[in-house]
Amino acid sequence: MAEKILVIGSCGQLGTELVESLRGIYGTDNVVASDIRKSDDEVFKNGPFETLDVLDKATLGDILNKYKPSQIYHLAALLSATAEAKPKLGWSLNMDGLFNVLDAAIEHKTGKIYWPSSIAVFGPNTPRVNTPQNCVMDPSTIYGISKLAGERYCEYYFKKHGVDIRSLRYPGLIGYKSEPGGGTTDYAVSIYHDALKTGVHNCFLSENTVLPMLYMPDALKATLDIMHAPAEKVKIRSSYNLAGMSFSPKEITASIQKHIPEFKTEYNPDSRQAIADSWPQSINDAEARADWGWKNDFNLDAMTADMLKNLAPVYGKQPL
Ligand code: SER
Repeated sequence: MAEKILVIGSCGQLGTELVESLRGIYGTDNVVASDIRKSDDEVFKNGPFETLDVLDKATLGDILNKYKPSQIYHLAALLSATAEAKPKLGWSLNMDGLFNVLDAAIEHKTGKIYWPSSIAVFGPNTPRVNTPQNCVMDPSTIYGISKLAGERYCEYYFKKHGVDIRSLRYPGLIGYKSEPGGGTTDYAVSIYHDALKTGVHNCFLSENTVLPMLYMPDALKATLDIMHAPAEKVKIRSSYNLAGMSFSPKEITASIQKHIPEFKTEYNPDSRQAIADSWPQSINDAEARADWGWKNDFNLDAMTADMLKNLAPVYGKQPL
């Protein structure tokens, strides 16, 4: 039987690119995009789209009855900074949304579920460098608490109900095709736009704040690889550590300056600094590498070259 895929939260930073990749693999009509509202990105002009608030169980049930998806990618969530500003909504969207999808997956016998976790599951007492898969996890943000609780739920549903759920703890994701929203790592996307637009970036983190990051092509590859891996290779059913690169605002600035020497970053840390300070600086992803063969392709300079090459025409510049 052909695969039918539902992407919930399809209009966010990851969803927009994932829908495009999935449609390339499975065919446009077999990938149903859904979100609380449709974005005007090109990718949603063609192909099925359903308006869905994942907190609305009845509409979720109707969509599952209509399309009978064999896979669901459930991406709808409030990220770290937005969830701190709206803690009740952050908790309810991130937790109740996951419960609705997991329960619906059991009821509708959906084959595979993907749900993203985050480096935000770690906290101030976690070892900050080369953070292992299993260690002290004491997240201090609503987002991190919801992701850690969600991980425990996923593993529980796998063991108790046999739901084939797969998950990755994403670091900050950086891409040129879609904008992030409400995260603590978002500066690492806007810095490239500012480099081309104004030549100055006003950074909301301090210059030496090192965080784990991943370039979008690597994030897409990891997501598709874990979903395509045979079930027995996916040994961790909470969520896998995943690493690509780690850098500070100062280091990404230097990487951009190799192409645009006059580029400058100014530092005005805000409330997101405390969130960043509670997260790891680098991640040990040995289990993902061993269990299903994960390997990243991009380091900081390779990402910078690709980002600037692709964004330059958007700002009317010659490719750098
Ligand atoms: N990029 C996310 C955030 O900053 C981390 O998962 O909230």
